[in-house]
Amino acid sequence: MYKIAPSLLEADYNCLGEQLKKLKESGADYIHLDVMDGSFVPNLSFGMKMIQSIRSSSDLVFDVHMMVDEPIRFTEKMKLAGADVLTVHYEACKDVKTTLTKIKSLGMKAGIAIKPGTSLEVLDGQLLHLADVIQLMTVEPGLEGQSFIPESVERIAELKRKMKIYGQEKPIEVDGGISAWNIRSVVSAGANIIVSGKAVFEGDMKVNIRELRRQAEYAGKE
Ligand code: DX5
Ligand code: ZN
Repeated sequence: MYKIAPSLLEADYNCLGEQLKKLKESGADYIHLDVMDGSFVPNLSFGMKMIQSIRSSSDLVFDVHMMVDEPIRFTEKMKLAGADVLTVHYEACKDVKTTLTKIKSLGMKAGIAIKPGTSLEVLDGQLLHLADVIQLMTVEPGLEGQSFIPESVERIAELKRKMKIYGQEKPIEVDGGISAWNIRSVVSAGANIIVSGKAVFEGDMKVNIRELRRQAEYAGKE
């Protein structure tokens, strides 16, 4: 099974509460929240205050993607703000295992994200065991609306094989450039949580989410 996680980065910030309600009515499973610090990635987005403010507008899972150096600094505050899943970048942590352990001790699910250029080799058995979800970036982190990197499909399949060997079959989340055109290939390769920004928010989100699901269904039949 797979989940659809619209990235709020592409939402209309003038009426976020309404957009969150509409996302739920439209069949979204998670809300993906991209936090950027202008250092780990060359862009800024939003932080705890914003997440806390919109928490009351949605009971969907808040899946927070930290594109932030040393995210361990913000783990308690993100818990208080209402994060359910906190995903940190392997490349941004001095001690990624301690960071994941801390996230879990606070009662959140811990995710580990890796950039397209980072080898899957960095995910050793202990890390796969610690993480509740593995997020593969399918674009360079930092900007919405980029083109999907086609080599990502093989990476998903490779990660899936690797997790099987280690006996650690965790959900695979994919993030960046996913639309109704390519969702089938990522789901077929083994992705379970599908982040989508532009392809959800451009036009009618209900129609868009329905189409994403319709295409993903084909993958299940392949
Ligand atoms: C990229 C972000 C993504 C992005 C997804 O840095 O992590 O979540 O906003 O948006 P689309 O689907 O438009 O690439
Ligand atoms: Zn993201």
